[in-house]
Amino acid sequence: MRKINIFDTTLRDGEQSAGVNLNLHEKLEIARQLERLGVDIIEAGFPAASKGDFQAVQAIAQTVRNCSVTGLSRSVQSDIDAAWEALKDGAEPRLHVFIATSPIHMQYKLRMTPEQVVETAVESVRYAKKYFPIVQWSAEDACRSDLPFLATIVEKVIEAGANVINIPDTVGYITPKQYGDIFSFLKKNVRNIEKISLSAHCHDDLGMAVANSLAAIEAGATQIEGTINGIGERAGNAAIEEVAVALYIRKDYYQAETRLNLQEIKRTSSLVSKLTGMIVPPNKAIVGKNAFAHESGIHQDGVLKEKTTYEIISPQLVGVQSNSMVLGKHSGRHAFRTRIQELGYSLTEEEVNRLFARFKDLADKKKDITDDDLIALILDEKLDMYKNFYQLCSIQVQYGTNQIPTAVVVLKDGEGNDIQEAATGAGSVEALYNALEKALQIPVTLLDYRIESVGSGRDALAQVYVKVSLDRKEASGRGTAQDVLEASAKAYIHAVNRMFVIEKMKEEQALAAQ
Ligand code: KIV
Ligand code: ZN
Repeated sequence: MRKINIFDTTLRDGEQSAGVNLNLHEKLEIARQLERLGVDIIEAGFPAASKGDFQAVQAIAQTVRNCSVTGLSRSVQSDIDAAWEALKDGAEPRLHVFIATSPIHMQYKLRMTPEQVVETAVESVRYAKKYFPIVQWSAEDACRSDLPFLATIVEKVIEAGANVINIPDTVGYITPKQYGDIFSFLKKNVRNIEKISLSAHCHDDLGMAVANSLAAIEAGATQIEGTINGIGERAGNAAIEEVAVALYIRKDYYQAETRLNLQEIKRTSSLVSKLTGMIVPPNKAIVGKNAFAHESGIHQDGVLKEKTTYEIISPQLVGVQSNSMVLGKHSGRHAFRTRIQELGYSLTEEEVNRLFARFKDLADKKKDITDDDLIALILDEKLDMYKNFYQLCSIQVQYGTNQIPTAVVVLKDGEGNDIQEAATGAGSVEALYNALEKALQIPVTLLDYRIESVGSGRDALAQVYVKVSLDRKEASGRGTAQDVLEASAKAYIHAVNRMFVIEKMKEEQALAAQ
């Protein structure tokens, strides 16, 4: 079996998904889970892009010990310097430096001749090698590049010291056969290519990112780049869970394996979905809600008689639990704390105490508390570092078939003052959001509102995601509660608070730059 390295870029290319904006705590939580999943490399961000990105990359490099942490860099010394500062404390510092190689990008974006591009690429790799033991070089828009030129520049950056060569399909244009042919061409025409690792990085604009990645493996790639749930720029990147499970289930064909702990896939997918607010479509391969649901009578009959008639992947393989009841209202603090630890979360004593109170509250209303419920509570509590802005104290909503929906809200501002407002609306949620907008005295536009249940049953928790904008700036928020209106209000306040934090960080950055 050939070993395939998994390079996860959920926190870099994935965070480039429209409307996704993760804070430092959220990025760290995802990085820890990626470590548990067993990815080989985490691309934690683009250190030179902003102070926030720098801090996140640095914190992740200092925290994660079982995988290599990398950061993206343009082919300029100041980017490489920033990346080194952020990554130097990592277990295995690695740089990801790139430059575009296609005629379109060189002419219109870079305004450089091919010779200048080769020179800049070589210089940047040489410079990076002074610091980094491992340097990955990427040819942006490689798939629309002239192949002999691509071979020339790849040979030159290998000479300069690059250890990994990445061939991105930046615009999601290539087909599987053509992508495989590029790898075969490079293997045949580049001197010393056997000394480095070849990597595939695919975007999903034509829905072929996973197929292209697998074709690259067949043609000799030993590293696959992608994101959890396939999130990313435009149509997204190759979904790592799909590549890994395809290699596992079809090892007879690919003869290749990753070191992923497949049982962590479902949990990683849920965490990324919750924190990014990007809902996983029910029919999504491997991690969608319906991925293991057999609906037709003929299929159900077959599966009952013999699972393998219609099931090629068992839900347990990827960590899908049957949502068994784990705790209830008689469970004590010890059992509660133990289960949290088993789920892989480390909380402070204060956080455990606060969560335990919320858990007891919930257990009074909901008979069975599942792992999913617990995780929703933990994320709500642990990742909400915006409590110093607005806090929701209470809501009251009146709705009747022939009445005008009315809502009253009470908030506390950052200085501890109570603010109470009432408003009406065409529906309960609108009345609630109108009241919140009045209380906040800022014109917030609601761009997106989505609701899903955590688990099943009438008493399931509601999880609401919203995206809001204010002065053309966007932020997303989420809220969990047993009541959909309370979850809606929490999500709204969360988004507004996040907006203030993002703005505050930007102001601090601007001041620091002066
Ligand atoms: O898609 C792309 O080309 C990239 C590079 C920066 C590697 O993400
Ligand atoms: Zn990309």
